[in-house]
Amino acid sequence: MKNKRKVLVTGGCGFIGANFVRLLHSRYDAWRVVNLDKLTYAGNLKNLEGIEEGNTYRFIRGDICDSELVAGLFAEEHFDTVVHFAAESHVDRSITGPGAFIRTNIEGTFSLLEAARQAGFADNGQGSQPCFLHISTDEVYGSLGQSGYFTETTPYDPRSPYSASKASSDHLASAYFHTYGLPVRITNCSNNYGPYQFPEKLIPLIFNNALHNKTLPVYGDGRNIRDWLYVQDHCEALVEVLEKGRNGQCYNIGGNNEKQNLEVVTLICDLLDKKLGLAPSGQPRRSLITFVPDRLGHDRRYAIDPTKIREQLGWQPRVTFAEGMEKTVDWYLANRPWVSDIVNGSYQKYYAEMYNNILNTHIK
Ligand code: NAD
Ligand code: TYD
Repeated sequence: MKNKRKVLVTGGCGFIGANFVRLLHSRYDAWRVVNLDKLTYAGNLKNLEGIEEGNTYRFIRGDICDSELVAGLFAEEHFDTVVHFAAESHVDRSITGPGAFIRTNIEGTFSLLEAARQAGFADNGQGSQPCFLHISTDEVYGSLGQSGYFTETTPYDPRSPYSASKASSDHLASAYFHTYGLPVRITNCSNNYGPYQFPEKLIPLIFNNALHNKTLPVYGDGRNIRDWLYVQDHCEALVEVLEKGRNGQCYNIGGNNEKQNLEVVTLICDLLDKKLGLAPSGQPRRSLITFVPDRLGHDRRYAIDPTKIREQLGWQPRVTFAEGMEKTVDWYLANRPWVSDIVNGSYQKYYAEMYNNILNTHIK
């Protein structure tokens, strides 16, 4: 069949990966998707509940750093497409424990690139264009002052262990294009929000705390700016890059949606007040906001210039911030057990219950 892709998705049980697998599943039901995920604390099989294993979907619990496993998968599955999400992704964790970030983000990316190269990664003869899509972040560009935007030519200036490890992986991916001709494309996206985001990140953390009448920790003066994009818009942009992008190119992805952290936090409070009534204290949930000591090396402002992807690939976001936040708060309200299972740790027991001995599969 023409245009039937064989896709290796890494990190498909995480926030963006799961939204991406769901998008492919709903739109390209003939594509075969193999999801390789280690199920770290951030991976959750419940994110893909309802997607059954079969001809079009296979789940492998494994580590991208395990080069033997990865090479075996390439040999077995004859992928023509890799979409590489797997990473340690939380800046605060990278400050307290950078080692895992160096290992997964740098060594893991190297292991995948090398497996693709060794496998002679190429067209599978079914009409689709081979592509190794490396998913990265705008944080590699560093921090902006009050003006200016990140473009694809902005020099890299990563400032946290997380962004430094992602920058390193971007450079490796780019080097594999230039040196070996591997069909690499790189995307650098701004902050995502939406369903299935692990509640250590700002938006789901504030939602959960506000729901339970807990304090809402805002770092520093709360005036740091992030450029928020609804996760489905990001996933749609990735499909455009797969379908229409060019090898060796980087694409910045963002929705021109800069917000100060305090604006985001107060919006969540106000949405919850509107939907649930005031907090049990009778106060608006904004009263729970607590300024806490700033994150070390906290980048002040991120803002993406998405001109290239809009003009060259015709992509632009479809969901406004107001709509996206309403959808997000509604999703978290409707999926409270998803959040509470994470907060109380029981989500990880689900693997064992569902997949018998899967906890030991492919993990050395
Ligand atoms: P996430 O932390 O929610 O998910 C990461 C997934 O990778 C998890 O399922 C985890 O189990 C898996 N994983 C981690 N280490 C692994 C390993 N060694 N082997 C196999 N699987 C492993 O992350 P996310 O927010 O979905 O981010 C996905 C990608 O997008 C990352 O590369 C991140 O840098 C990038 N990104 C994220 C954002 C954002 O706002 N979240 C923005 C831009 C780019
Ligand atoms: P986060 O969701 O961790 O994403 P990133 O650090 O990758 O941008 O944080 C988003 C912003 O929110 C960032 O400026 C840090 C801030 N923040 C808080 O103020 N309080 C919190 O509890 C968290 C997790 C983040």
